[in-house]
Amino acid sequence: MKITIVGAGAVGASCAEYIAIKDFASEVVILDIKEGFAEGKAMDLMQTASLNGFDTKIVGVTNDYSKTAESDIVVITSGIPRKPGMTREELIGINAGIVKSVSSNLIEHSPNTIIIVVSNPMDTMTYLVHKTSGLPKHRIIGMGGALDSARFKYRLAEALEAPISDVDGMVIGGHSDVGMVPLTRMATRNSVPVSKFISEERLNQVMEDTKVGGGTLTKLLGTSAWYAPGAAVSGLVQSIACDQKKMFPCSILLEGEYGFNDICIGVPVILGRNGIESVVELELTDAEKEHMSRSAEGVRKTNGLLVF
Ligand code: 2OP
Repeated sequence: MKITIVGAGAVGASCAEYIAIKDFASEVVILDIKEGFAEGKAMDLMQTASLNGFDTKIVGVTNDYSKTAESDIVVITSGIPRKPGMTREELIGINAGIVKSVSSNLIEHSPNTIIIVVSNPMDTMTYLVHKTSGLPKHRIIGMGGALDSARFKYRLAEALEAPISDVDGMVIGGHSDVGMVPLTRMATRNSVPVSKFISEERLNQVMEDTKVGGGTLTKLLGTSAWYAPGAAVSGLVQSIACDQKKMFPCSILLEGEYGFNDICIGVPVILGRNGIESVVELELTDAEKEHMSRSAEGVRKTNGLLVF
């Protein structure tokens, strides 16, 4: 199993590290445009192999896509991250050109690959890859909801004063500070609805803290987060690579599902060796449907900024 990660920045390198430690891939190629940067990250990570007990081979290359040839899965993290106070949508001007060029180069050398898009604004970047790559729908996946759901579970556990392993919850909708839809109604503590333990007011605070989870960290760190994004991507990669059939909320091209067409936005899907194996259509309440509609409006507005 060969995985390529484009972008040797903090998110890409964290993703490579988590994939290596899980040791399900034979090779991880990290590619960056900065001379020697990916090579350095790969060498540093390989020097953890004996310490972290993995045999995955991590290779770094500088802008040489031939070394990514025949990748089973490719991950696009390249582009500029947010600065404090910025929205993800403000990154489109620079990141759209990068993602279009990177995806084209990747597919040229790995025509049968499955693409995972991380670069922001992620829903729009995923849509861009659909419109420019010609790959079938089931092989283009945007990572946002898995990360947002991890932040949701973190906030739920905090409110419940419970271990995170007792908590489950999912965030659908757009990967944006205003467009996320944390499904508080479905969240559970060991199969018991969380509403049994915390008030509606506290649950609304959990929802709001979840929506700005990325922005909160960008303020603290001075740049976008990387550990949880990297870990979220590695979970998607593993479900595909190992045909685990796990369910994740991912940004995918909707063609009528949830009543939407011609948009990429987060919905629950089953991920296996073919990429998106199936879409899970939840029965949403009117309020949840309204949140999704507002979220889709925001994504479409950002999509409107694309120049193909
Ligand atoms: C985040 O929310 C980078 O969009 C990513 O941290």
